[in-house]
Amino acid sequence: MRVFSGIRASGDKTLGNYSGGFRQYVRTQEEAAAAGGEAVFCVVDMHSITTPFEPEVLRESTLSVFAWLIATGLDPDRSIVFVQSHVPAHSEGAWLLGAVTAFGELRRMTQFKERADEQDFVSAGLFTYPVLMAADILLYDTDVVPVGDDQRQHVELTRDIAERFNQRFGETLVVPRGVYPEEGARVKNLQEPDRLMSTTRGAPQGVVRMIDEPDVIRKKFKTAVTDSGREVKHDPQEKAGVSNLIEIMAVATGASIAEVESRYDGAGYGQFKEDVGEAVVTLLTPFRERYDELRSDEGALLGLMKRGAENAAGVANPTLDRMYERMGFVRA
Ligand code: TYM
Repeated sequence: MRVFSGIRASGDKTLGNYSGGFRQYVRTQEEAAAAGGEAVFCVVDMHSITTPFEPEVLRESTLSVFAWLIATGLDPDRSIVFVQSHVPAHSEGAWLLGAVTAFGELRRMTQFKERADEQDFVSAGLFTYPVLMAADILLYDTDVVPVGDDQRQHVELTRDIAERFNQRFGETLVVPRGVYPEEGARVKNLQEPDRLMSTTRGAPQGVVRMIDEPDVIRKKFKTAVTDSGREVKHDPQEKAGVSNLIEIMAVATGASIAEVESRYDGAGYGQFKEDVGEAVVTLLTPFRERYDELRSDEGALLGLMKRGAENAAGVANPTLDRMYERMGFVRA
């Protein structure tokens, strides 16, 4: 079994990224090890240039996200952790897969439509983004892709691309499946619970960043939007704010949604909000300490990146060669 997932080098990473991303990476790292498989995780810096960016910020975010991957529990001795641009097979593979991706499919991607609406300059890269993502996944003969719910459409497209390639050129690529967490697959903005928590959109006060100081986190939860009732009950349609907080509590403590509901039966929202904030502080504090440590030694981080890239290329290059050959390219 091989696991692959990627995370963009952009913005500050949020509690949403933790829930749909980092948390799942560590879980699947363990599952892959138990099944005698391998897990591969990638900072997708080439995806980061598809929306407006600053070179110095890209550099900083790449180092930062790489450090977060290790700080939240990925073990570079057991998993392959690397930076996308260090393995040229990704961009080459994306070009080849462009031959079996339809313009109409890309035009239908929700993330493209949303992001394109927000920008004056819509880059060609933003449009072809899902093809690069398909290459990321398919180059590693990936079985399982742990992601949050917002990436579902991209993973489905990756499956279609793989199937089409295989039909057209013969069995070459493994068709992967997406894995989404049961709770916390869509962490919402604490101020606008109908919106996904993201640093690029929505009220900043409702976005919990992994780098936030404990008191900032506490305050964000204290002021979280709920509703006029007082029941701590999971009902995403009618009680979006409270349901989001219940899911966050489940993510932070490992309790089930039902356990959280029964623990706060009759407790009122005030105490509940305070406790969720505290649980998130407890969750994130050790990660932050580890993160600060890792960031204080850039040389060591670069060394880990280099090792990760070599191992990643060892898996990706043979797949890329296979693709070239099947498509009829002359290999001298
Ligand atoms: P990215 O960098 O936006 O997000 C990284 C991971 O975090 C999840 N996530 C969330 N989960 C729950 N609630 C939220 N509010 C939330 N916000 C983000 C995302 O679903 C993701 O799993 N296109 C991808 C990166 C990518 C990739 C790949 C992923 C590139 N190539 C190959 C998997 C496999 C993205 O932009 O994720």
